[in-house]
Amino acid sequence: QEAGDAPGHQPCARRVLVFPLPFQGHIDPMLHLAGVLHARGLAVTVLHTRFNALDPARHPEFQFVAVPDGTPADVAAMGRIIDIILAMNAAMEASPAVGEALRASAVAGQDGRPRASCLFVDANLLAVHRAARALGLPTLVLRTGSAACLGCFLAYPMLHEKGYLPPQESQLCTPVPELPPLRVKDLIYSKHSDHELMRKVLARGSETVRDCSGVVINTAEALEAAELGRLRDELVHLPVVLAAGPLHKLSSSRGAGSSLLAPDHSCIEWLDAQRPGSVLYVSFGSLAAMDSSELREVAWGLAECGHPFLWVVRPNMVRGCDVDSARQLPDGFEDAVKGRGVVVRWAPQQEVLAHRAVGGFWSHCGWNSTLEAVSEGVPMICRPDAVDQMMNTRYLQDVWGVGFELQGELERGKIKDAVRKLMGEREGAEMRRAAQELCAKLAGCLESTGSSQVAIDKLVSYILSL
Ligand code: UDX
Repeated sequence: QEAGDAPGHQPCARRVLVFPLPFQGHIDPMLHLAGVLHARGLAVTVLHTRFNALDPARHPEFQFVAVPDGTPADVAAMGRIIDIILAMNAAMEASPAVGEALRASAVAGQDGRPRASCLFVDANLLAVHRAARALGLPTLVLRTGSAACLGCFLAYPMLHEKGYLPPQESQLCTPVPELPPLRVKDLIYSKHSDHELMRKVLARGSETVRDCSGVVINTAEALEAAELGRLRDELVHLPVVLAAGPLHKLSSSRGAGSSLLAPDHSCIEWLDAQRPGSVLYVSFGSLAAMDSSELREVAWGLAECGHPFLWVVRPNMVRGCDVDSARQLPDGFEDAVKGRGVVVRWAPQQEVLAHRAVGGFWSHCGWNSTLEAVSEGVPMICRPDAVDQMMNTRYLQDVWGVGFELQGELERGKIKDAVRKLMGEREGAEMRRAAQELCAKLAGCLESTGSSQVAIDKLVSYILSL
């Protein structure tokens, strides 16, 4: 297909640019949004950093432009997302490269490529938003986290003024009435990073959101109606604040199409041979890490629980370990779980969660994993690690009733009990029922007259009006 052609080879009248933050949980929803807009007849140009560069061959329907991001090699090698976001933005602000790439990408091409109407940008890329603004190109923010998460980060100055943050040990269970149903311990803060750095990143993200021409949030009215209402009141100056998710259910592009690691599809064949609802899927996302002692406890907890499981052990999942993390699994583990447990380095997660054999998900509760589980009706054990994962857990456990938190130190006995609770007949049944109900409500949002589809209709009209 030629650049500027929509499906069916009709030339596109309009084009959009998209610029994702180069981390898995941010790339996927941006490319899903691009897929949704492309299916509605818009041409798409994807701008991407050289750090975690995307592979154009996997998305022949889009044009790709690599932009020098200037992230220092030592910062990139450390792999701390917060440091990379700040360093990348600083380097991009100091160089004309982003502005030049945007200018060249936005203009109409001699090949019939239409001019770009707007840029979709991740809120964490303030440098890109500013460069677009300087060119007079409207930007819309795609929020890859929840509406509650956006509400929290817009409220960050207030949360400090009122003393909720940084969190005090004695106040962790204190409710935050300005952001119901959150408690202090559910707010965004990093257990691992310097709190001031987090504050800086969120202040820059808020500036992008408040200063852009519209916000699209990867959530749905069925999940967060009240939170969306509050956001619309706060961002009343923006022409559009839309809940258009879960985007992976609206886009026809395959889930693993933008994976930075190669998914191991052999696990699907193994799942095919398991009983319906019998398998626990275990994955802690693309960034969360654990100590080798914790890895050992998880391994023995899964070995002792007696249920079939599929566990993702990412290459860099164990802190301070340079070798493939799966090689750190304890001696005897493989024999102990033979035939009942499978370990992969990276799974085709959306396919796994949609598989009939999967009956439960033990997750770090990143927002994408949360959306992917609730949209398949899979109940969860929640083990939040950082940023928005604590508040996602609050919703999963106490608002939607589709999961529960595994708290405290990771210890094999507690893990065994938690898995049995989730997968078992008694308490598990209630969560499974709630998960099915929520899944049905979400499916309603995705129907042609459902709220998320209507949001996409509004978004396309808005783009055409620019
Ligand atoms: C983190 C945050 O927790 C998240 O809420 C935030 O918006 C982005 O940064 P991450 O650790 O990447 O995200 O988790 P998550 O948001 O769940 O995204 C992980 C993605 O990787 C999911 O789409 C999941 O399907 C995919 N994945 C994960 C795989 O495809 N295979 C795997 O084996 C594991």
